Amino acid sequence: MGKLLYSAAMSLDGFIAGPGGDMGWLAPYTGDASADGLAAEVGALLVGRRTFSGDDPYRGTENEGKAFGGLWDGPQVVLTRGVAPAVPGVTFCSSLEEGVAAARAAAGEKTVNVLGASVGLACVDAGLLDEVEVMLMPVLLGGGVRLFERPGPPVRLELLAQRGTSLRYRVLR
Ligand SMILES: NC(=O)c1ccc[n+]([C@@H]2O[C@H](COP(=O)([O-])OP(=O)(O)OC[C@H]3O[C@@H](n4cnc5c(N)ncnc54)[C@H](OP(=O)(O)O)[C@@H]3O)[C@@H](O)[C@H]2O)c1
Repeated sequence: MGKLLYSAAMSLDGFIAGPGGDMGWLAPYTGDASADGLAAEVGALLVGRRTFSGDDPYRGTENEGKAFGGLWDGPQVVLTRGVAPAVPGVTFCSSLEEGVAAARAAAGEKTVNVLGASVGLACVDAGLLDEVEVMLMPVLLGGGVRLFERPGPPVRLELLAQRGTSLRYRVLR
């Protein structure tokens, strides 16, 4: 069974989206944030609905709407408690358990990449998250969506790898 990895490009002050879900801040860094190494290990995405239908750092480019800016293509599982539209290649699930099972089945032995802060947090709280990768971006946003936002207790991590300003951690349980 593949692992569950939560990944995000993050401002130095800890935000993965600006106020109102703005992702335009990431546009100047999409080259730096390019997740080519990461994309190679990913078998499926487990995505929060706000990430799926939200802003895109690639908006206005030929890669708008594509996972990892077009570097990756494959099965996506989107979590929503709302009405699920019909989108080719996308499975909509209404609970974390159902979504994780569907994404794991789709990924096989490869990694399930979790996208969206609330889904990452839910995976940690359920004891399901194996790893976290953050790509630190040289910018301060001052507000927005935090990588993790919840009152304690602390979640201990162990550094597994560092590539430039990308940091990969194991979640200690
Ligand atoms: N910097 C980066 O690399 C990066 C990466 C990914 C995302 N982002 C940004 O981060 C922001 C999204 O994070 P977020 O925390 O606001 O939202 P999110 O996690 O993407 O999506 C939250 C939504 O997912 C659904 N959901 C979450 N947990 C669920 C569960 N257990 N069961 C059923 N549905 C569930 C709900 O959808 P419904 O409301 O439809 O019920 C919820 O409102 C966006 O602005 C996105 O662009 C940035």
